[in-house]
Order: sequence, then structure tokens, then C-alpha cells
Amino acid sequence: MDRTALFPNLNGILHGGDYNPDQWLDRPDILKKDIELMKKAKINCVTLGVFSWSVYEPVEGEFHFEWLENIIDNLYDNDIYTILATPSGARPAWLDEKYPDSLRVDAYGHRFHHGVRHNHCMSSENFRNKVKIINTKLAEKFANHPAIILWHISNEFGGYCYCDTCKKKFQNYLAKKFNHDINKLNKAWWTNFWSHTYGSFDQIEPPYANGETSILGLNLEWKRFTTFNMTEYMKFEINILRTISKNIPITTNFMKLYEDLDYYQMAKELDIISWDSYPQFHNDKESLEDTFFDNGFNHALFRSMKPNKPFMLMESAPGVVNWNAVNKYRRPGIHKLASMQAIAMGADTVQYFQIRKGRGGFEQFHGAVIDHLGTDDTRIFKEVSEVGDILNKISEVAGSVADNKVAVLFDWDNRWAVDDVKALAQETKNYDNTCIKMWQAFVKLGVDPDVISSDADWSRYKIIIAPMLYLLHDGEAEKIKKFVSEGGQILATYFTGYVDHNLLCYLNGFPGDGLKEVFGIISEEIDSFYPTDRNHILLKGYDNSIEVYDYAELLRVDTADILGIYEEDYIKGTPAVTKNQYGKGNAYYLACRVNPEELKPLFVRMLQDANIEIKHIPDGVEYHTRYGDRTKYEFYSNITDNAIMIDNVKGMELVTRTKIENEFLLNGKQVIVVKSEM
Ligand code: GLA
Ligand code: ZN
Repeated sequence: MDRTALFPNLNGILHGGDYNPDQWLDRPDILKKDIELMKKAKINCVTLGVFSWSVYEPVEGEFHFEWLENIIDNLYDNDIYTILATPSGARPAWLDEKYPDSLRVDAYGHRFHHGVRHNHCMSSENFRNKVKIINTKLAEKFANHPAIILWHISNEFGGYCYCDTCKKKFQNYLAKKFNHDINKLNKAWWTNFWSHTYGSFDQIEPPYANGETSILGLNLEWKRFTTFNMTEYMKFEINILRTISKNIPITTNFMKLYEDLDYYQMAKELDIISWDSYPQFHNDKESLEDTFFDNGFNHALFRSMKPNKPFMLMESAPGVVNWNAVNKYRRPGIHKLASMQAIAMGADTVQYFQIRKGRGGFEQFHGAVIDHLGTDDTRIFKEVSEVGDILNKISEVAGSVADNKVAVLFDWDNRWAVDDVKALAQETKNYDNTCIKMWQAFVKLGVDPDVISSDADWSRYKIIIAPMLYLLHDGEAEKIKKFVSEGGQILATYFTGYVDHNLLCYLNGFPGDGLKEVFGIISEEIDSFYPTDRNHILLKGYDNSIEVYDYAELLRVDTADILGIYEEDYIKGTPAVTKNQYGKGNAYYLACRVNPEELKPLFVRMLQDANIEIKHIPDGVEYHTRYGDRTKYEFYSNITDNAIMIDNVKGMELVTRTKIENEFLLNGKQVIVVKSEM
């Protein structure tokens, strides 16, 4: 595995975060102190200018970058590099006053008032013109500054705009997509249901909250369009920088499993993937381990968008956030575990929001490396410094990557379609969580699946787990056929292959589009359970029965072997788990919802068939691997407070610099990185 560190000149791993010196320009003493403290915390990089537009351009056409240049220079003199953001995350008041079409329109058709952030109309020409001017000036001024290592486009793109400009763009997008043939669209969306047939593309409105929300094809296309429009806007910003700044890579910061944008589409336009991770540790809904798994799934998702490169943890909270219902502090040791989880899963950076707390404003009580107290002896400061130390010790892992042969298929369109479908049980569809739990079951077997899209390159994988793949894109069934017939193993579940790309049901049996031959079954009914309903299945060769909840399909078996049957209710004795040999591979079908951890015997068998090493990871320990050149780095973290013995481990441990021969007693909250040659 060749490796390229994302930021080779920073001793490998980047440690830093959002820094807002523009809030402190009248306090040179504080700015000086900040640098001192950053150095103590082993911070080697900051992100500047994320929300600095009104300091750069206090009145239209009057620009001030001299302060920024000073800050960047001072930081650089102290070996602190800069990630420079474009300031388009929030607009100055003069801009909204003069160009009100920059303001977004909500789902009821009301234009927003000035304020808050991230709420622009991405189609507004006036807004784009102003962004073009400020970005051009910024790039011209700083593109060649040796401190700048990365461009950070805007901030956390998101949301919808229902204005007339966006509406017109949507209509044009649809006209293009359906070859200017409105009947084609009517057929695809089945619009003669309730007499909703359109006469022309001009009649199509976005799904206003008080308008047309009953055409599911329209709802889905609106989401696709919003991703298209946001991506087009993002490309517009990227192009401005690219023409001036040829060599500096570009990213934008994604959010945790964000609902409204298909990040797979946006990722294609970026040089580096980065995301903001804010797990709600110690909540009252799940175990600490589950919080880590949930966060880990996101790391896997973002990592897998560019599997041959490290990704970035762009933001995380030192200590606490201020926007949760309950803002609970990370307990001692958690900051290290969370930071190291990112590195273990393939990040080359640990970054925070924010370096120093602002005195006022919306985020004055959000965690920061430097608190209002302003000293280096706070608990959080010390925990951040500890992370800085560890990152220095393990800096050689930079550039190494995960290399997995198992993937969970997580499809954004499918996610939207499952969410919106008028079927199943509204409260328990849980597509995201179903994918996360499947992923988690494999992590517990020492395998750390990638999380991939339908249009990703699947050739590197031997096993694909595809939960609830209700919607099939054009060509996707063919892709699955090819994958399995060439020797791949796939596991699909209940609610697979019901509808095509336009949400029209397949005829002649689910899963459609030829997949019933791949799986050797047809699904005839899907039954939804009330929360207390249960069934059970018995896996062949195993005596214990597995609990079924939420959903169960009634299958007809054609060529598949039956691996498990239902034990109760009207489907008693009928198949619940099947396996069908197809070409050189196998297609497994799980007809009901169970806790994936209970399917361990099945997963073990799949892994063994694929010659993938299984490791038995003790409960409370997280395990991930990165590979670089001929070197393997194994990360173990103990998220419990108790020491746990790890066996079967050998190599040089980088944090403590000890040689491990066979076993290691991992203390509570300890993280180790074991290096071995391959
Ligand atoms: C987001 C934003 C930051 C900040 C943090 C606070 O991630 O990008 O500007 O508001 O949340 O947690
Ligand atoms: Zn708009």
C-alpha cells in the first residue's frame, strides 16, 4: 500500500482547529497568549476565516486582509500552518440589505430575514457575484503564502431553498432529465394517481410544505436537485480558487450522516474529505460503546469516499458543545479515545471547534482548547495536549490507509426513498441504524467495513452487506449480478429491490430487475410489527433461536438453500434466511430484522469463505487497522475503565515505545498503536 500523508510538511498528523482571532483584534495580548498556548498544546495548524466576511469587507467593495496576513505570518513564524476558509458560510448585513434575493426562501414560500448563517439561496446570482469577488481577492492575496495548506470551502453546506429562482432551476433540471417530455415524467412519477398529471414542466413546484408532497417521485427529485444545485454552487467556489491557486488542495466540511445532501455526489468534486464529528457521549439513550460505534460508522463512510487517501477530522469538541438538548462534558479520557478513533480509522488530522472561546455570541459556552479562564492547566487543555503528544509519537502513521475487503452499502437515494415511502412502520424504518448495526457486528469480528455507495468501485471488496436496498438505480442489479457471479458474496435483507430509480414498483416479484434470480427467492409480503411484537428464527445447525422484531417477509424460495426458518405466527416454518449460489459467488437473503450480532455464525462463515481474517475483539475494546508501505498499524482502544487483556498482538507499540510479544494488558481508557512489518 503506497502512502501519501495529506500534509507531509507538518510532521504527518495535523492537530488544530477553528480559530477566530478576528473576534480579538483589539486584544493583542490575547492573540500573543493564544500562540503560546497553542504551542503548549502541540497545535500545528488552525482554520481561519470561516465566518470573517464582515471583517474582510465591512462595507461593500472595501477590503481588509492586512489583519489576516499578520495573524497568518505570526502563526507561521511559530510553526503553525493555516487552513483558509472562504467566508461564504454567513453573509454581512449590507449584502442582505442590498441583495435580498441572497436570502433563502423556506418550505412555505416565505423569504428569510437577515441573520444566522448557512441560509443563502445557492442559485442567487447576486450572492454568487459577491462570493466570487471576495474569494478572488482572498485567493490572490494568500494562494502563495507558504503557511496555507488547504482551502476550506464555506461551512457545513445544507438545507433547501424554495425561491422562484430555485424553482425555475428545478424545472429546467427536470426538463433535461426527462428529455423535455412531460409525459415521460408523468409516467415515471405515476401522476395520474389523484389526478396530479402535469401539463408542462412550468407547472411543477418544489414540494412546498403546504403544497404538493404526495408525489413521492417529486419529493425524491427535489432532494436530488438540491444536491445537484449545492454541488454546482460548491464547484463554482472551487473553480474560483482553482484558477488562482493551482496546488493547494480543497475540502469542505461534511456533517454526520447529514440527511439532506448526497455527500457521495459532492465528494467527487473535492480533493480531500473532511467532516465534523460531535458524538453525544454519555447520553441516556445508548451505551458509550454504541456512541463510539455510531461515530465510527461515520468515519468509515467519509473514509470510504476516497479509500486510497486519509481523510480529515475537521471539527470536534474539546470537552463540550453548546447546542445539544443536554450539554454534557466528555468525561476524562474520552477526548483521547474520540480523537484516536478518527486516526485509527484513517484520518490524518484531529481538529477542534474551537481554539479559543469567544466572549459573547451564540457559541460563547461551546468547548474550546482555551477556555475563558485562559490558562494551560484546565482539564480540557491538558487532555488536548495529551492528544497532541500522542499524535507526535505516532506521526509515522500519516498517509497510511485502511484496506478493507468488506463493505456496507449505504445509499443516499435509498435512504431518502425509505424515509418517504408510505409503507412499513413510520417509527421503525431506521435505515441508517440498520446499516450501522450491520457494520458494528463486523467491527466486533475485527473487520472494519467500508461504507460505500451504489456507484462506488466495488472491485476491491469480497463481501457487500446491503441492508434494506429498497430502491435500485439503473444498472445496479446488473452490478450486483456481476459482483456475485464473479465470486463476491452479498447479503441483502427484507425490503430489497422493490422500486426503480423513479420509485415505480417492479412487477413479477421482489427483488426486481433480475435480482430474484441472484437470490433465488421472491418476497411476497412484508409484515410490520408493533414495537412489542416478536417472532423468532432458527438458524440451521444452531440451536438457539434469534429474536425477530419490526419486519418479517414471507418468502417463496426458488433455487436458494434455506438457512433459517421462522418459528412463530402465520409464517411459522417458512424460510427466513437463504443462500443462493450464483455463478462463483453467493447471495444471502435475510428476510427479517434481527440484531446483527446474533448473525455472527453466518458472518463468520462468509468471512471464512472469503479468506478474511477474523479477530475476536473483547467487549469494550475498539480495533482498527491502517496500512502503509509494508507496515501495519493496529489500533486498540479500551473504552471501559477496567484493564482488558488483549491476546494475539505482536509488534512495536508506538505510544509507550514498548515491544509486545504476544499479549498486552490494556488499561482503562488506554489507546495503543502496534506497528508490525508485513
Ligand atoms: C459546526 C460548525 C462550527 C460550530 C460548531 C459547533 O460544526 O461548523 O462553526 O458552530 O458546529 O459545534
Ligand atoms: Zn433559491
